[in-house]
Amino acid sequence: MKKVGKVLKVSLTVLGLVSALIFFNLGEALSIFGFSEEEKKDTEHSVQIPPEYKGKKMPRGWLTDPKVLAAGQAIYEGKTIPKVKCVGCHGEDGKPTRKGRGGPDLSDPAEAQEPDRLWFWRISEGTPRTKMRGHKKHLTEEQRWQVIAYMRTFAKSTN
Ligand code: HEC
Repeated sequence: MKKVGKVLKVSLTVLGLVSALIFFNLGEALSIFGFSEEEKKDTEHSVQIPPEYKGKKMPRGWLTDPKVLAAGQAIYEGKTIPKVKCVGCHGEDGKPTRKGRGGPDLSDPAEAQEPDRLWFWRISEGTPRTKMRGHKKHLTEEQRWQVIAYMRTFAKSTN
């Protein structure tokens, strides 16, 4: 009887160790797939710009280059590519139209605070579950920067 008790004790210990190991590995495996607590918190509070868009940058000097701004305006107003008509929703002055209801008021500096790369990402891929479509098929990267440079002028004008 004594022997049986010992065997039972040993096997329970082994069982405990094995399950602890499985548990530990499970936690680790989950965190690899992005289920760690920290990451959950992160995505709840702010949008995560995907890695391929994180390094994107407005070319230097474009925000004030009149040629860039003119090209951006032509795209925005659908004169360059009739299919792409940002003005229809975002309005001539950056205030959302009826069609663009729910869109941000880009003439309000408080609403037009997002970094350029976030806008670049949204213009490229769109915003899920909204009317904002992705335009990477219609606009080259250069054209996307031109239109962003132009959109930045809405919040700058004083009226
Ligand atoms: C059919 C209407 C529509 C058209 C056309 C459209 N947008 Fe949008 N856009 C929206 C709406 C609505 C939102 C807000 C999405 C949301 O709720 O986050 C938005 C969001 C954006 C944002 C993100 C702003 C932010 O702070 O998140 C940018 C930048 C933008 N649009 C640029 C453009 C550009 C550039 C074009 C033209 C190439 C364009 N949009 C065409 C409706 C439109």
